[in-house]
Amino acid sequence: MKEEFRVTPWEVSGKIDYSKLIKQFGVSKLDKELLKRIEKHAGELHLFLRRKVFFAHRDLNWLLDEYEKGNKFFLYTGRAPSGAVHLGHLFPWILCKWLQDKFGAEMWFQFPDEEKFLFKKNLSFEDVEKSLNENMLDVIALGFDPKKTHFLVDTKHANLMYKEACKVAKKITFSTVKASFGLNDSSNIGSIFYTSMQAVPAFLPSVLKKKKIPCLIPLGVDQDPHFRIARDVIPKLGYDKPALIHNVFLPPLSGMGGKMSSSESNVAILTTDSPKEVRRKINKYAFSGGRATIEEHRKKGGNPDVDVSFQYLRMFFEPDDKKLQKIYEDYKSGELLTSELKDILIKKINNFLAKHQKKRKLAKKQISKFLYKD
Ligand code: TRP
Repeated sequence: MKEEFRVTPWEVSGKIDYSKLIKQFGVSKLDKELLKRIEKHAGELHLFLRRKVFFAHRDLNWLLDEYEKGNKFFLYTGRAPSGAVHLGHLFPWILCKWLQDKFGAEMWFQFPDEEKFLFKKNLSFEDVEKSLNENMLDVIALGFDPKKTHFLVDTKHANLMYKEACKVAKKITFSTVKASFGLNDSSNIGSIFYTSMQAVPAFLPSVLKKKKIPCLIPLGVDQDPHFRIARDVIPKLGYDKPALIHNVFLPPLSGMGGKMSSSESNVAILTTDSPKEVRRKINKYAFSGGRATIEEHRKKGGNPDVDVSFQYLRMFFEPDDKKLQKIYEDYKSGELLTSELKDILIKKINNFLAKHQKKRKLAKKQISKFLYKD
């Protein structure tokens, strides 16, 4: 049976075959040598790199060549505000924070507050504004250095961004946008223009400093089509193509295809969930690789490879390789029950969220420090 999957900036569905996706998108695999190169400079490898949460890239070797020549890069990623932030959103942001610390990189974070307004039917700018403020708290809570981190809000920084976006837009045809994003003659014209706004932060620092500065964009792989176009255009404007590093999606609790989605709150753990809510969601919805009865589980063992709780530990919450290996083996042998495995995960998530939520509260007073001022 052929399994279908779809990965676009507007839709992620089906069981994703990431090796196929590498070919489909024409990105490169993040291989051992490249990881070693990162490790050499950073002194260690972040869990997301060691465990292949980040699995693909474009031009990362070039970026490191430049770095080794003393040409420092800046980081760029973003979040289109619409609703709550869930754990899956944090992958690129946490990697950015780590890269900022390890490479002393400046960070540019875009909040395209027009994006979801343009692409979603019933979303007003008032709704977006509320999410915008909440989403900013999640980013700040991760510990970015306010002196080295700049938030761009498309409608608020329009004065700075619009001219650059027009330069990008002038070099993209309607047929390219149609082919890359599945837009068509009945798409609204704002949605057709949008990708040019998402391209801007990848070279804006170079515009401001009046020199080429290398750019690295950590991003969910669904965002790659935007930058495939941007990478064609940006050199025509006199700047270097940004390098990219792509992450896989955190699977939804259901273990089904696609990605964790905030709009289906039962398949996603939100950064604002209470400990009780986390417990309820994991116990009720986290797809289990366990057996139907305890007796059978003890006898035949469970399947950690399909177990969502185990995947969350592997991808995010258990940094200790030995501990993770033991959980894997104990679950497989039947020594560890599903309820016990879930309990390990629930405690880890709640521990992470308790700290995150505390920092999120403190972040309220910091927003203005992060908003870019020209
Ligand atoms: N389009 C992204 C979203 O839907 C937001 C975004 C803007 C972004 N710029 C980016 C994501 C750069 C990754 C990298 O949330």
